[in-house]
Amino acid sequence: MEIKNTVAKLLDGVAIAGEIKNEVATQVKTLAASGITPKLVVVLVGHVAASEIYVRSKVKTCGELGIGSEMITPPETITTDEMLSLVADLNAREDVDGILIQLPLPKQVDTKRLLEAIAPDKDVDGFHPVNAGRLQTGQPALAPCTPAGIIEILKRSGIAIAGANAVVVGRSDIVGKPAAMMLLNESATVTVCHSKTTDLPSVTRNADILVAAIGRAGFITTEMVKPGATIIDVGINRVNDQAELEKFFPGNTARAEGFAKRGYTVVGDVDPRAFEISGAYTPVPGGVGALTIAMLMQNTVRAAKQRRGL
Ligand code: GUN
Repeated sequence: MEIKNTVAKLLDGVAIAGEIKNEVATQVKTLAASGITPKLVVVLVGHVAASEIYVRSKVKTCGELGIGSEMITPPETITTDEMLSLVADLNAREDVDGILIQLPLPKQVDTKRLLEAIAPDKDVDGFHPVNAGRLQTGQPALAPCTPAGIIEILKRSGIAIAGANAVVVGRSDIVGKPAAMMLLNESATVTVCHSKTTDLPSVTRNADILVAAIGRAGFITTEMVKPGATIIDVGINRVNDQAELEKFFPGNTARAEGFAKRGYTVVGDVDPRAFEISGAYTPVPGGVGALTIAMLMQNTVRAAKQRRGL
């Protein structure tokens, strides 16, 4: 048998996000012709540095696509009741299509209660139990942005989902569980793994599509991957140990230079050396992460249309 020496295909999240944003901008223009401007309200509590960066990026993208936006910045000391009252106002406002409460929230705020208080039809994060239930029962739903982005990457890259063995490592409410449900809705055979899974490598080696959403740098190693599999790496982890840098990126001068300048490099949940034996993979950065904001924009336009019965 001839053994082909193929090079793994890089799935370019930035390019795919660009396509989606263009499509959203076109839809926004069509709505504008009917006098409708979709509007997203982002609530950012306190001063978490990473959250401030994400939120700025979300608001900026709204502006680029013609979506209206508003940022509300309550103080770090806000109570659950005050947040509930804020959400009730936003639910009632006719001009607001999407409500996003940036997480994490300060510990005195009851996050679950708050997310349940958002009107499901304005829940552009797709975190409300009603949307989770709609997703599970195959009804149209506002779906969580990161898993929705995973499906877009697979579809737009021509990777067959129906009939594939999809293995999701990680069972969070925000990524792992909804990703598993969306892959199932696309007719994959889905396995969900977690910290109590017995003999994880034997399960992941069965994956045609391997989704890594664990939150640990380089956790999925080469021995855990079937040659030719598609790897979707959801992780975004900072590595600030020189030995780890050299382990993950031997001889990579660009990575070494970035590390020397910033004191860290960003690594996904997959050991980058495992990408070499894959058929296709999402890089970190520039993979799944790039899609999340594009999907939020798509959800905002979708919410605007659905609320008007369009
Ligand atoms: N914090 C980190 N990621 C997210 C997200 O996707 N949505 C919200 N609301 N908060 C986040």
